[in-house]
Amino acid sequence: MIKLISANWKMNLTPSQTESYLERFLPLVKDVTDREVLLCPPFPSLCVAQRMLEGSNVRLGAQNCFYEKKGAFTGEVSIDMLKELGVFYVIVGHSERRWIFGESDELINKKLTACIETGLRPILCVGERIEEREAGLTLKVVETQLRIALSGLEAYTDSIDIAYEPVWAIGTGNPATPEDAQFVHAFIKDLLSQINPERKGNTRILYGGSVNPSNAGQFMSMGDVDGLLVGSSSLDPDSFAHIVKSF
Ligand code: PGA
Repeated sequence: MIKLISANWKMNLTPSQTESYLERFLPLVKDVTDREVLLCPPFPSLCVAQRMLEGSNVRLGAQNCFYEKKGAFTGEVSIDMLKELGVFYVIVGHSERRWIFGESDELINKKLTACIETGLRPILCVGERIEEREAGLTLKVVETQLRIALSGLEAYTDSIDIAYEPVWAIGTGNPATPEDAQFVHAFIKDLLSQINPERKGNTRILYGGSVNPSNAGQFMSMGDVDGLLVGSSSLDPDSFAHIVKSF
């Protein structure tokens, strides 16, 4: 299973900044073939990124999508629109979508279903908040999020990737320990085997939350960490290239 190193730029980098970023970044990673490299820019930067990534070894992803095909959904973006821009992956259920924009597990399930029906590969984000962690509820929270998100999709677990992102570790400079990540990732894989006994093991479990160039290698050395989802440290092309090549 090839590892996946993904950048989540969030609401950062305009189209012209995306162009400068890629001019610097693409030469730095052009020889990387033993892992998949993914960039998830904001919607307005997808077009310029698509043009610049053509023929490169870097793939394009989006940070969100809507589940309906088209119609009166002001402000939303459909999966077909994203596919036409060369988007291959989409992040679904990021904690900022859940906690700032009120996305529920049920909504996330609808988005995942639409992605699987249309062949866009979702990266489903799950993770506990600090008070849940302190109450010893990490595994229970992750299990509930996964079971609802995957309801009706039990046979398709090989068509998605999952990012374990503890909410308290996102953007705080306070990452989980590699051992904590490994523990939850192993739990998620066991759970996937219960949900889909036929699964072939193509679901990569990424870790996200304050990954930086100095800790990326430690996470990647864990047996069940199959990739990374990187926010702040992906905004600088040198720092993200360092992470991509750091193990
Ligand atoms: P961070 O964000 O690397 O800035 O902690 C990760 C994410 O939210 O995906």
